[in-house]
Amino acid sequence: MKKDIRPTAQSDIIKSKGGYPHFMLKEIHEQPSVITNILNTYINQTTGHVTLPDEILFLSTVPRIIISACGTALHAGMVAEYWLEQIACIPVETDTATEFRTREAPMSSDGAALFISQSGETLDTLEALRYAKRKDQKIVSLLNTTESTIERESHHIIHTLAGSEVSVASTKAFTAQLTTLACISVGLARKKNVISESREKQLTSALRKLPSRITDFLKHDEKIRSLASEISKARGVMYLGRGTAYPIALEGALKLKETSYIPAEGYTSGEMRHGPIALIDNDMPVIMIAPFDDLFDKTVSNTKEIVKRSGKVLFISDKRGIEKLKDIATWTIEVPEVDPFVAPILYTLPVQLLAYYTAVVKGTDIDQSRNLMKSVTVE
Ligand code: M6R
Repeated sequence: MKKDIRPTAQSDIIKSKGGYPHFMLKEIHEQPSVITNILNTYINQTTGHVTLPDEILFLSTVPRIIISACGTALHAGMVAEYWLEQIACIPVETDTATEFRTREAPMSSDGAALFISQSGETLDTLEALRYAKRKDQKIVSLLNTTESTIERESHHIIHTLAGSEVSVASTKAFTAQLTTLACISVGLARKKNVISESREKQLTSALRKLPSRITDFLKHDEKIRSLASEISKARGVMYLGRGTAYPIALEGALKLKETSYIPAEGYTSGEMRHGPIALIDNDMPVIMIAPFDDLFDKTVSNTKEIVKRSGKVLFISDKRGIEKLKDIATWTIEVPEVDPFVAPILYTLPVQLLAYYTAVVKGTDIDQSRNLMKSVTVE
């Protein structure tokens, strides 16, 4: 018997690479339009105010938000922890869903839990959600797909509007999660009355400048292509960052592992002295994610320590940052100047491209990383 085909919101999946050699590169290049779309959804273009859906405004009053997710989605949650705490003054605890679901964390019944998932089907995230629900948490999920299991089991949903993502290595879904979480942080801060109207406008204006900065950056990736052949020879790569650059260091390392199969780890720059520094030598490039912000001087001091130990440093910063370190760093990648608030979104681009072009040099199956599934629905 012929079955009816029911169109779903995912029926728009057009599995075309649109002239790009890989979906990963296509999806990297889609980021300016994805981000624009999200900003147009949440930011009033005339007033610069953020408007959030009414049903999530209660998050401004909860004693604590638990954020849980896996992989790249977890890294988005880790950035949001900084934003929600620093901008909206909401205490946050972030944990990987794989641990959160089993560690039996106690929680007060008036709390909320935020789950982040591109697919909405990741089993560990779903089980973490079920645990939080049993503990009477209000469940909000940030999802890129529609009609998923996580959507059905959540109290409230925010969709991240990245469109379908084909490459196993997630790129545009990540920056879509970050952009949405940035808007949520600013919107909750205003609702809570912990930032002024002018500060809100300053933050939304920084967000609105992002798509054109990213477009400019994407036009000049020749330098990253040439650095990729250096990185492809490494026996291992270390990514370092502080503050919101720390989750981007983790994300850079994850992208490189997934696409090039080169051992790569991310650490906070501060943690480097507590062990990872022992790994530094001439064969282990260190990639410094170094926005020109309040923590920049500490990053400079870490970079000098690495260079003193014969380490090779690829320093990612803007013109001002590179000016200070150009004589010390082995290589540099210059990104456009942006407000430090949006730096984690912009600084994701160089680490995505570096992973992509390194994988091209290595000749791996870029869109279908070995041993990995786009959505992990098993334990
Ligand atoms: O679909 P989800 O966002 O729940 O997936 C979570 C992770 O499995 C996913 O982000 C994975 O780490 C990606 N392959 C990263 O590129």
